[in-house]
Amino acid sequence: MPRRLAAGNWKMNGTRGNLSELDALMARHPAPSVDLLLCPPATLVTQAADRVAGHPMFIGAQDCHPAPSGAHTGDLSAAMLADAGAGAVILGHSERRENHHETNALVCDKVMAAQAAGLIALACIGETLEQREGGQTLQVIAEQIAQSLPDGATPENTVIAYEPVWAIGTGLTPEIGQIAEVHDFLRQALSDRFGSGNGNGFRLLYGGSVKPANAAEIFGVDNVDGALVGGASLRADDFSPIIDALENT
Ligand code: 13P
Repeated sequence: MPRRLAAGNWKMNGTRGNLSELDALMARHPAPSVDLLLCPPATLVTQAADRVAGHPMFIGAQDCHPAPSGAHTGDLSAAMLADAGAGAVILGHSERRENHHETNALVCDKVMAAQAAGLIALACIGETLEQREGGQTLQVIAEQIAQSLPDGATPENTVIAYEPVWAIGTGLTPEIGQIAEVHDFLRQALSDRFGSGNGNGFRLLYGGSVKPANAAEIFGVDNVDGALVGGASLRADDFSPIIDALENT
């Protein structure tokens, strides 16, 4: 079974004062039995990375440009993020797909850029409510997996996060059977494409309204290897019980 991963996505939240939450997390989880990743805004990556030095928690970013450098005002390359202290980067989050019109092809280019810079790519996929209600969920997931992941994806350089768009920040979560269906489907699709050895090694995270109250049930689902947590990762008081649930389920 892949080593489990609890990942937090602070999105566009947090200034320097919020980094004390990392101290609280490290104090509560001095020797975690799962991997811990926190992705603050890019402005905090270096300070966060310095803060967690010596602890197994690692720091990630939330996006990168596909090019290694150039005239792209306001953008950051994967190599810059690595240099700033990031060990991973979230790519293709539905908020970027929606707000910045990111396509599967662009996400794939970004995943390759992240891998080339030595970052773990957390590639996000997930259906909209309209797609789910239209019975298109597995088709959408299959397309996103086929088109957003490059052939060079391995369990070491890529993590997949299934985040149903309608579950993000809404307090709604899919039924447990719906999460199981998508994660089983993902495992099979990855095995078909990358071979069963690799396919079984990829970490498949669930994301979308994960809270202390529902974490254990979600982590009990086959092929759920952890979570990508938004709102509940902002405070150690909320994120810590989710980490506990992942360690104990
Ligand atoms: P919430 O946990 O706030 O629903 O956000 C999930 C998410 O988008 C993580 O990337």
